[in-house]
Amino acid sequence: MTEAILLVGGKGTRLRPLTVHTPKPMVPAAGVPFLTHQLARARAAGVEHIVLATSYLAEVFEPHFGDGSSLGLHLEYVTEVEPLGTGGAIRNVASRLHSGPDEPVLIFNGDILTGLDIPALVETHATSGADVSLHLTRVEDPRAFGLVPTDASGRVTAFLEKPQTPEEIVTDQINAGAYVFNRSVIDAIPADRPVSVERETFPGLLAAGAHLQGMVDSTYWLDLGTPQAFVRGSADLVLGRAPSPAVPGRCGERLVLEGARVAADAKLTGGTVIGPGAVVGEGARIHGSTVLDGAVVESGAQIQDSLIGARSRIGARTVLAGAVIGDGAVVGPENELREGVRVWCDARIPERAIRFSSDE
Ligand code: GDD
Ligand code: MG
Repeated sequence: MTEAILLVGGKGTRLRPLTVHTPKPMVPAAGVPFLTHQLARARAAGVEHIVLATSYLAEVFEPHFGDGSSLGLHLEYVTEVEPLGTGGAIRNVASRLHSGPDEPVLIFNGDILTGLDIPALVETHATSGADVSLHLTRVEDPRAFGLVPTDASGRVTAFLEKPQTPEEIVTDQINAGAYVFNRSVIDAIPADRPVSVERETFPGLLAAGAHLQGMVDSTYWLDLGTPQAFVRGSADLVLGRAPSPAVPGRCGERLVLEGARVAADAKLTGGTVIGPGAVVGEGARIHGSTVLDGAVVESGAQIQDSLIGARSRIGARTVLAGAVIGDGAVVGPENELREGVRVWCDARIPERAIRFSSDE
């Protein structure tokens, strides 16, 4: 097993323009662009050649990762003119693969943080003789995912992407976004038109009697589809709950990156990351949060489970919980912003403008 395809295009690439300008795979998680963790984990599993299938905002990847040699990888980039969907993106990079028709190729969704045992998935694929093998995980609410029921031997019996009705919720096993495909299956996907691997390829293969094998693995798994999930994932990387060889530094309660200035009595816990050049003032308390490059957290601010955008400013004694603050935004002193609030990039919230707590 030497090569993989990483899907980093489509609409899901953006972590919403109102929060951060950077495309999602490049937003730092535990101090490095998120994609670095996936690339480093694949490399650690023995993958040497990775093709990045990109569409939207593709131009940011190559200047950063180059030919991949700094990660010990050979990286190639293929950009779709129009997004081709997950299956179309896979087919579109087929000419870059080196594998022969019967050889396995790994494929990863680009927005997943997981401790998946990649060699075990490859091994399952080899021993079961499947055409495609899928990493499956169990979740409480499977509605936002692809449902994948299996029989007693782990063979996939159906693939139901984003079930709409209660009757369709037949299992809590979902597609975790990591596959092994036989090269010949990739070549058989129609070229030059959008194809959804979840809605077209998998159901079509099953209808045709192909062998799809599921590997349920209960290791750490998180879809970083929302900014809140992103903050959680970053904290879990710092805490060491999500394993990645690319975390710069030792795992622990906090990760303070080069050029950041943190007051001696500030308290940073729960996997908080302070980005390069960011400033944290006296007595500030930050828990389970990501403070991006050049942001300023003034004295006495209390921040929990929040994403603080690059070059933004959080005023003195302001309280944030579950907040997403866009790049360059200014939240004046003594505000209180809670669960689910999103402040647009470059917005200004004046001093003492918003609170949630009742009158004392
Ligand atoms: N190159 C390219 N072109 N990549 C794409 C395109 C495209 O047109 N569309 C989507 N992708 C990439 C996304 O960047 C992401 O990394 C991956 O394919 C999956 O797309 P999402 O848009 O994130 O899909 P999802 O999260 O709703 O659902 C997928 O992931 C779930 C697990 O998180 C499906 O695969 C589900 O079945 C699965 O359960
Ligand atoms: Mg996703």
